[in-house]
Amino acid sequence: MTERTLAIIKPDAVERRLAGTIIQRIEDEAFQIRAMRRVHLSKAQAEGFYAVHRERPFFAGLTTFMSSGPAIVLVLEAPDAIRKWRTLMGATDPAKADAGTMRKEFAQSIERNATHGSDAPDTALYEIGYFFAGVELV
Ligand code: CMP
Repeated sequence: MTERTLAIIKPDAVERRLAGTIIQRIEDEAFQIRAMRRVHLSKAQAEGFYAVHRERPFFAGLTTFMSSGPAIVLVLEAPDAIRKWRTLMGATDPAKADAGTMRKEFAQSIERNATHGSDAPDTALYEIGYFFAGVELV
């Protein structure tokens, strides 16, 4: 079933000029890029995006990092896109990520972990809507 997911190339990867390489990998894996934009989140915008994690001990550090510089947000479409993108990213902690995954190759730590992907259909809907209006998905 064709599905959409929200992907983020996080500030660490943008700063290290890895965006082009990551977008190439997305296209090589046959995702359709339905929308893409460069954003520099405010702290409040990062807190809104990660609201489900607000009770976690890492919430303050995560939202400070995510608002520390520009990121690139994308809507990816493919059959089984949510799982497919999470498999390509690898485990959240790069120390646990499989060889060949983007976090294994590009992440520096569990916080500076290069990319984000929605974890379920309901979160994908929320996350896509957080950044894009329907008319922007083309
Ligand atoms: P992401 O896929 O963007 O979803 C939530 C983020 O929180 C996650 O990637 C990590 O960057 C971050 N995160 C999760 N667990 C921890 C942790 N134990 N310490 C610091 N950051 C974490």
